[in-house]
Amino acid sequence: MTKITDVVDLEKQGEIAILMINNPPVNALSVGVRKGMADGVKAAMEDDSVKALVIACAGRTFIAGADITEFGKPPQGPGLEVPFGLIENGPKPVIAAIHGTALGGGLETALVCHFRVAVPSARFGLPEVLLGLLPGAGGTQRLPLVVGVEKAIQMIATGNQISAQEALKEGLIDEILEGDLVTGAVAFAKKVLAEKRPLRKIRDRREKVEAVKGKPEVFAEARKAFAKSRRGFEAPQACIDAVEAAVNFPLEEGLKKERELFAKLMMGSQSAAQRYAFFAEREVAKIPDVPADTPQIPINKVGIVGAGTMGGGIAMNCANVGIPVIIMEVNQQLLDKGLGICRKNYENTAAKGRITKEDVEKRMALIKGTLSLEDFSDVDMVIEAVYENMDLKKEVFGKLDKICKPGAVLASNTSALNINEIASATQRPDFVIGLHFFSPANVMRLLEVVRGEKTSKSVIATSMAFGKRIQKIAVLVGVCRGFVGNRMLAERSREANKLLLESGSPQQIDKVIFDFGFPMGPFTMSDMAGLDIGWNKATSKGATLRDRLCEAGRLGQKTNAGFYDYQPGNRTPIPSPLVEKMIKDFAAENRIPQRTISDEEILERSLYPMINEGTKILEEGIAIRPSDIDVIWIYGYGWPIYRGGPMFYADLVEVKKIYDKLVEFQKKEGEVWKPAALLEKLAKEGKGFKDFRR
Ligand code: 3HC
Ligand code: NAI
Repeated sequence: MTKITDVVDLEKQGEIAILMINNPPVNALSVGVRKGMADGVKAAMEDDSVKALVIACAGRTFIAGADITEFGKPPQGPGLEVPFGLIENGPKPVIAAIHGTALGGGLETALVCHFRVAVPSARFGLPEVLLGLLPGAGGTQRLPLVVGVEKAIQMIATGNQISAQEALKEGLIDEILEGDLVTGAVAFAKKVLAEKRPLRKIRDRREKVEAVKGKPEVFAEARKAFAKSRRGFEAPQACIDAVEAAVNFPLEEGLKKERELFAKLMMGSQSAAQRYAFFAEREVAKIPDVPADTPQIPINKVGIVGAGTMGGGIAMNCANVGIPVIIMEVNQQLLDKGLGICRKNYENTAAKGRITKEDVEKRMALIKGTLSLEDFSDVDMVIEAVYENMDLKKEVFGKLDKICKPGAVLASNTSALNINEIASATQRPDFVIGLHFFSPANVMRLLEVVRGEKTSKSVIATSMAFGKRIQKIAVLVGVCRGFVGNRMLAERSREANKLLLESGSPQQIDKVIFDFGFPMGPFTMSDMAGLDIGWNKATSKGATLRDRLCEAGRLGQKTNAGFYDYQPGNRTPIPSPLVEKMIKDFAAENRIPQRTISDEEILERSLYPMINEGTKILEEGIAIRPSDIDVIWIYGYGWPIYRGGPMFYADLVEVKKIYDKLVEFQKKEGEVWKPAALLEKLAKEGKGFKDFRR
């Protein structure tokens, strides 16, 4: 065995050489790998005793792409084109032996090889678009030649992966190998030599794209579809441009176009935001005072209290990954209703072909109902999801404390109540934690894990791992009203309601927020959720505009009327002259002058109070890092990932500018606009949240 670099070895098995890449954790194409590949391939090509070369990886996966940590830094060592040229144009067959995930630059490496073999569990994809980029090492040029234009656009512009079985069907790989991969790949190489198979270069296979040549309408249609499904994202559009170049130009010219498009995206703010989000999403798991080796409590069975909107969704999350659940309700009717909704949700998913009918039965079999908390004596974790009422929650926790075995985690799904107070109803506050899911709980990726004053480290570590296991992005936060997400949302809502009275136009405010990249604006969102949340008909006295809308029977989409009108069965909001009049009257009664407000002011007044509140949250230690806040907003509230989250966005705008605006509004509007001390400090030092260190 010859060591080529620290992360690449070359060994020989008879006349077959094996280039082994060992760059944990995911064999990213760092400078050492690129250099090792270039030197190793060259050595194999020059060694007369070597007749064929296998490229394989040690550890958990084949190359998972370029080393993202190198992006934005000055380039070092050889570019990928060096080893790629040596492989593709060399005189000897090169075989990629793939396990785990061949992603991005990894799949591009495989595409310059002459043959590709893989284990049955291997997966393939070009996920660069998820980083706001496109494949920059030939992926956009070679993949369409193998799988055709339609499939290539699908894969490149969504970043979706395909299985080994699909890759075989598409002709992306030559064989699926059972057993030891390297042994199988060496045998495959020998077969190639024995059969004297010609070296097949993907670059020469143009049959699949000829049919689309000179058909710009195919690409125009794709651009239109992606402009809708990936609204606001630049990269998918550039991916389609690059694939079009693959069809219309010879390889070298197409590669040039790909490089230009790649460089442009790399310089843009969207990719910077998406790359930041990639690392932010992984950073949340790192908790300074809860080390990775903190002992965890095994979770083999979960109890859920309340089978309402949230309880049912949470139960589904557990069943989806095979965790048995017992769910408790106050009466049989409500229990049947809750379980019925779970079943219906699963059946809808099955009808879309995303799971099988057997999966529906398997998952439902894991969810058992009960009317008695006594049945929770053997669960390892309880998640309480009863009404948002402190007395009720304390009563439930008091009972759980008596029933549940010692060592069981007792969690609450409260969206705003004080976890410490809930914990005080038990004799084991160290085992009490908040697990704040977002609605619909079986869909939304975010989980706020709320650490109480006395919550033990082991319970925190267990809860974070549990979040990951049920495929959520778990972010640790501290106790305060509304935790991180809802506390910041409250700021935006407050200002949106003021803006509404001043501008008179829910549609203008909603459009500004929608155009910024959120899925919908605050008033469309309120209509969807229902205006009567927290509203009480008996005590309502028309004190707020919302009260008046509810009093008028305008409860939101469910009554086909809220801030907007709706046609029955249609969710498209239609501006309502009646609501406009109600706003005008309300503003007049309350002496709020109405005026034309610019979109810019609406955006600033919507986002800057959130950023200010986020800063207070950091100051108070409620969130560990600015990037944790960003992850919460991206995965819980639809903040557009290409804008990186509120704190990243603040740096993009410049903290100093935001500070100045807050001061300006403070003078006009009063103390709610007072900048947080940390924001003032950062602004005065010319710094941003990227510089924040605890
Ligand atoms: N570069 C640098 N670091 C990477 C990386 C990459 N491409 N991919 C993953 N990592 C790091 C992660 O940051 C994480 O580090 P940490 O442990 O310090 O937090 C560690 O590897 C493990 O990653 P995950 O926690 O994500 O591990 P999983 O097992 O859950 O997932 C994976 C593995 C599917 C490979 C996932 O990491 C992934 O999707 N990675 C990104 C793949 C990608 O985007 N590739 C394209 C890169 S761009 C490119 O190739 C450009 C080319 O066209 C020129
Ligand atoms: P829901 O009203 O849909 O469901 C609550 C269920 O709890 C009802 O079915 C009720 O019968 C049951 N219940 C009441 N007392 C009980 C008891 N003593 N024992 C067993 N079951 C009991 O309410 P939802 O929306 O599911 O909310 C539950 C909790 O989740 C609340 O704390 C809420 O703040 C929180 N939450 C709600 C979100 C939402 O969007 N709906 C989002 C995040 C958190």
